[in-house]
Amino acid sequence: MRDAQPSVDTVPDLSAGLLDWYDRHARDLPWRVPPDQSKVGTRPDPYRIWLSEVMLQQTTVAAVKAYFERFTIRWPRVSDLAAAEDADVMGEWAGLGYYARARNLLKCARAVVADHGGVFPDTREELLRLPGIGPYTASAIAAIAFGRAETVVDGNVERVMARLHDIHRPLPAAKPELTEAAAAMTPETRPGDYAQAVMDLGATICTPRKPACGICPWRTPCQARANGTAAELPRKTPKKPQPVRFGMAYVARRKDGAYLLERRPDRGLLGGMLGWPGSDWAEAMPQETPPIRADWQPLEAEARHTFTHFHLRLRIYVVELPLDADPETGHFLAREAFTPSDLPTVMRKIFDLARPVFDTDM
Ligand code: ADE
Repeated sequence: MRDAQPSVDTVPDLSAGLLDWYDRHARDLPWRVPPDQSKVGTRPDPYRIWLSEVMLQQTTVAAVKAYFERFTIRWPRVSDLAAAEDADVMGEWAGLGYYARARNLLKCARAVVADHGGVFPDTREELLRLPGIGPYTASAIAAIAFGRAETVVDGNVERVMARLHDIHRPLPAAKPELTEAAAAMTPETRPGDYAQAVMDLGATICTPRKPACGICPWRTPCQARANGTAAELPRKTPKKPQPVRFGMAYVARRKDGAYLLERRPDRGLLGGMLGWPGSDWAEAMPQETPPIRADWQPLEAEARHTFTHFHLRLRIYVVELPLDADPETGHFLAREAFTPSDLPTVMRKIFDLARPVFDTDM
């Protein structure tokens, strides 16, 4: 247990060993400056670091790569992103989740252009004042893009610290202790490479299940390895089960192939995203609220999706409408103008269930 170990500030400097490992094994990532170039002072583009870090809070490196490539081809500089149409950015973000983050991404790009002449500020404190930049992202940009000795703590880093110091207190209560452990180890030399090295270590060797301790550059100092507890750390306080909410979604296609869609209000879940008209999502199935009177047919299959705080189950109704249909909500989007990949995942699931009906029965 942690209590039997030396306190974190008496732990010897382990960063050099990890940086040696990183020099040989750093992952090749589209936003990253490889270690051989970083060592001679080449810095990555702060715009690319900011964008990648915001995306990486949503999902895995593997999933982010494609989004990152599309964003940076379409908007190569922060000024290009700042000038983009909201709907285009929301469409490119679709599928990544947490859509408030995409709206903040745009706000941040616009603030960098309006208030900082299109140049990202280079300290953690100033970065924190920008929309959507929290402690994690501010530290990551300051360390990786500007070479500042800030401590970057994500889930990978928490796991590595819990094991290295054999900390058994469960998450989330252990967060301050794990952050303190990480801060005590952050070096003044190459802090950006060091931050990325701890994250790479967590992603490739010190993995949640079956960590590859035998090839770990920190196998000798690792307390959990010595005590045989690595695979069970970090401990986590079980989350309480999430409630289920119910609702309805209405998928209408006009005879000419246009779909009836609506842009959701900016505030709230899936804010600013394109979606199918539907009911509120409630603890019991709400009243039917079709966007137009028609012969709506229920689908047998329901759409299921899990958000951070609840599971959602949606009953789906479909109909084909005449050319003169005049719905109360939503607007028709011509077949050529409708890109299903612009939909957030739950709306995409609904579409995938509804589409075969139009292609066969109607
Ligand atoms: N996960 C989040 N940010 C990362 C980074 N910069 N390098 C590796 N993994 C990451």
